[in-house]
Amino acid sequence: MNRPLGITVSRNIIDSQRMHPEATGELSGLLSELIVAAKTISAEVNMAGLADILGMSGKTNIQGESVQKLDEFANNTIKRRMAKSGYICVMTSEEEEGIVPVNEGYEGKYTLAFDPLDGSSNIDVNVSVGTIFSIHRRKSSLASGQGNLEDLLRKGSEQVAAGYIIYGSSTMLVFSTGQGVQGFTLDPSVGEFFLSHPDIKTPEKSIYFSANEGNYQYWDENMRRYINWLKEENKEDGRPLSARYIGTLVSDFHRNLIKGGIFLYPKDNKNPDKPSGKLRLLYEAGPFAYLVEQAGGRAITGDGRNVSDIEPEELHQRVPLIIGSKYDVDIAEDFLLGRR
Ligand code: AHG
Ligand code: MN
Ligand code: MN
Repeated sequence: MNRPLGITVSRNIIDSQRMHPEATGELSGLLSELIVAAKTISAEVNMAGLADILGMSGKTNIQGESVQKLDEFANNTIKRRMAKSGYICVMTSEEEEGIVPVNEGYEGKYTLAFDPLDGSSNIDVNVSVGTIFSIHRRKSSLASGQGNLEDLLRKGSEQVAAGYIIYGSSTMLVFSTGQGVQGFTLDPSVGEFFLSHPDIKTPEKSIYFSANEGNYQYWDENMRRYINWLKEENKEDGRPLSARYIGTLVSDFHRNLIKGGIFLYPKDNKNPDKPSGKLRLLYEAGPFAYLVEQAGGRAITGDGRNVSDIEPEELHQRVPLIIGSKYDVDIAEDFLLGRR
């Protein structure tokens, strides 16, 4: 069978690097290493349901090696590969308490923040999960050696690249290096990502809204009014919107990006420890804000700030997130600020 000649992700990365004569190829190298980690995780995720059948569900597998939980596996895969990639100077992971150093002698000029496996509550029930990443240039380009906390606590607007991998009906890689958003689909028979969604632009207007309405009673009055309004009928502006909520941010974001939607995880009074909602600035809200803006959409917190403008204060900081099609995020903001 003759396959059409697809554009591989490596080809695409090299082509965009060519548009920057000053580029050293380090960002391209970093992305390539991350892609190898993603393919490794993808293979493992696809085997997850077979674990019992293959005798790999206990603490040790058939070879007597200890078996890790999928989120641990994803975390270790990225950590180990990136620690000696030579392209980054420090990392932070949603699964790690503090900063993660790189191997001595392998310090590079970028930093990496990642959520190794997003949607972990969906792993056991065969619902799609994902990996999210965010890349910054280290604070001082002249600095060398290990990076530090300061190199990681950076605004979303300063990212040089961000993206995600979704392990769904197919494995897809979606990322941006600041010139729009590109989507690639993994062809498992050749082990390559091919360009399938060039220059993704999110629809101006949403057809879906995504929020965990189980939290309704914990929301403030403005948020409740907005959700009620979305469900009212109005033929002129396309209401009511349809509801879609997977509970894996990667998947909810991906669907909304392609089809047009608004995702909301607002602040709530459910847990006094988490007054800012649930999602993390560095691993979830920040990278998605970058991507949605690159695709023509918008991401806000609902208290008058754009997510991309927030200066992080700690690694695991949580922020409210309202993200998606611009038309709808603008209206949501009016409601949340009590202007409507
Ligand atoms: P993680 O699995 O990385 O901890 O993230 C789960 C997050 C996110 O993916 C999703 O949007 C959200 O949790 C769902 O939260 P609720 O179950 O509270 O709706
Ligand atoms: Mn997550
Ligand atoms: Mn996670």
